[in-house]
Amino acid sequence: MYNVIRRILFLFPPEPIHYFSMNCLKALCSIGLIRKIIAALFSVNNNQLATTELHLTFKNPVGLGAGFDKNAKWLRELETLGFGFVEIGTVTPLPQAGNEKPRLFRLPKDNALINRMGFNNDGVRIVAERLRKWRAGAQPSTHHFIIGGNIGKNKITPNEEAWRDYEICFKELHPHVDYFVVNVSSPNTPGLRELQEKESLRKILRHLQMINNGKAKSKPILLKISPDLMQDQIDDILDLALEIKLDGLVCTNTTVSRAGLLTNKDEIEKMGQGGLSGKPIRERSTLIIEYIHTKTAGEIPIISSGGIFTGEDAKEKLNVGAALVQVWTGFIYEGPGIVKKICAALK
Ligand SMILES: Cc1cc2nc3c(=O)[nH]c(=O)nc-3n(C[C@H](O)[C@H](O)[C@H](O)COP(=O)(O)O)c2cc1C
Repeated sequence: MYNVIRRILFLFPPEPIHYFSMNCLKALCSIGLIRKIIAALFSVNNNQLATTELHLTFKNPVGLGAGFDKNAKWLRELETLGFGFVEIGTVTPLPQAGNEKPRLFRLPKDNALINRMGFNNDGVRIVAERLRKWRAGAQPSTHHFIIGGNIGKNKITPNEEAWRDYEICFKELHPHVDYFVVNVSSPNTPGLRELQEKESLRKILRHLQMINNGKAKSKPILLKISPDLMQDQIDDILDLALEIKLDGLVCTNTTVSRAGLLTNKDEIEKMGQGGLSGKPIRERSTLIIEYIHTKTAGEIPIISSGGIFTGEDAKEKLNVGAALVQVWTGFIYEGPGIVKKICAALK
């Protein structure tokens, strides 16, 4: 069924159809009876899938990766589709329009996407207020619907000042999210990935931890890393993560590599710069998780992101040491039944 819908959706440009589809779902979910029907079709009610990670109880281990609901506009709808958790953002202190459009491309032959969105978002104040309202109106069942806050820096902020942007976002979102992800691995903000260097990271993460420790209830802080890191860079990050007792890692973001794609080279070139996601990054992402899990003897909890389309993909990640999984590109290609399908395989 979704194959037919996907064919129709894929006739339209990816970014407008993303908003159109989610806004249609929002309109449908605003009618109680229809929401119940959608929930009955797609959500997962199996207590055996509940899992406690990062001192949080997730109703199932399948989440939605950052960048899908950047502005926290579709939380009820995503919960209705069965997701165990959603990572909102990347959110920056000031609102940003992001890069010029078009900035999102499909590569159907590769089951992949290329994006250079550039942290388009409403800014942390508006997003925090939206989350506050959502929590205030949430049904009791929403308690186990975990929300992660993925935070970044504005494009105009120089790297030396980046720690301040992370601090602003952290403080604003702290009352409203369950865990944080520090994003220094997007390839679409110039220079951002340089912040993955050990000393820059230490400054940002220690500062956030200090603020966190001063709160009545601290929140887990994770770091999202790039699949393009060299082994020595990963080792540096692991040393730091263990030294400062970071709560976890999200592995991985999109890649700038275009190796091994089936899509025509000219087409790929025309799409231009950006991060590649989906099937082509699955293997690299899994290898990184396996490496980290082995090297740290499982001491650092890992959320897996990268190329998860099926239950088998999710099992692959969990088997090499991931604690939780996130889908993004897989959701576009597999459709709204993806959580249920993955959960059925994990039972
Ligand atoms: C259009 C698009 C926008 C994204 N935006 C963000 C973002 O704002 N922050 C972030 O940390 N990751 C972002 N990502 C990366 C995803 O969260 C995910 O890590 C990556 O796509 C790999 O997972 P996948 O292969 O399942 O898509 C984005 C991905 C896509 C396709």
